[in-house]
Amino acid sequence: MEDYNALVGLWNKSGLPYKPKGRDRRDRIENELKGGSAVFFVALSENELAGSVFGTHDGRKGWINRLVVAPEFQRRGIARMLVDRVEEVLYELGIEIIACLIEDWNSNSMEVFERLEYKRHTDIVYFTKRKNTDV
Ligand SMILES: CC(C)(COP(=O)(O)OP(=O)(O)OC[C@H]1O[C@@H](n2cnc3c(N)ncnc32)[C@H](O)[C@@H]1OP(=O)(O)O)[C@@H](O)C(=O)NCCC(=O)NCCS
Repeated sequence: MEDYNALVGLWNKSGLPYKPKGRDRRDRIENELKGGSAVFFVALSENELAGSVFGTHDGRKGWINRLVVAPEFQRRGIARMLVDRVEEVLYELGIEIIACLIEDWNSNSMEVFERLEYKRHTDIVYFTKRKNTDV
């Protein structure tokens, strides 16, 4: 959790949308980590935060969330390393399917996940029910 403020800075700098009043709120992330179904990895260069990822699972399916690498550290294999590490942890827990949701404007991220051997599904439409727009 000591990386939280730096992480918010990184999300801002990298143009990654996040929900500071909702699911990305400090105490929510803290609770998720305590709950044992989430892992949070950071990539550090010296002491600088270069990237991070948040992996979760619901006992059935694993999720890659909030993958981000600072612009000056991109294209050096850091995202691949972070995703590999989350996959390793999830596979150890017996999770056999790992997914991620990518917003339709984010074609860079789609290309990255394809390079990481994730299959694109165009036949699935995402439905949610939200208590409010911040979650
Ligand atoms: C997506 C992101 C995390 C990738 O980080 P990165 O550290 O540059 O990625 P890597 O260097 O590990 O690259 C992984 C693979 O994707 C490829 N790749 C990276 N950026 C790419 C791009 N913009 N377009 C196409 N391919 C790309 C790399 O060549 C590599 O493939 P290879 O190993 O087969 O050569 C980074 O661009 C980012 O933070 N973007 C803004 C935040 C974001 O959109 N996050 C995703 C939310 S779903």
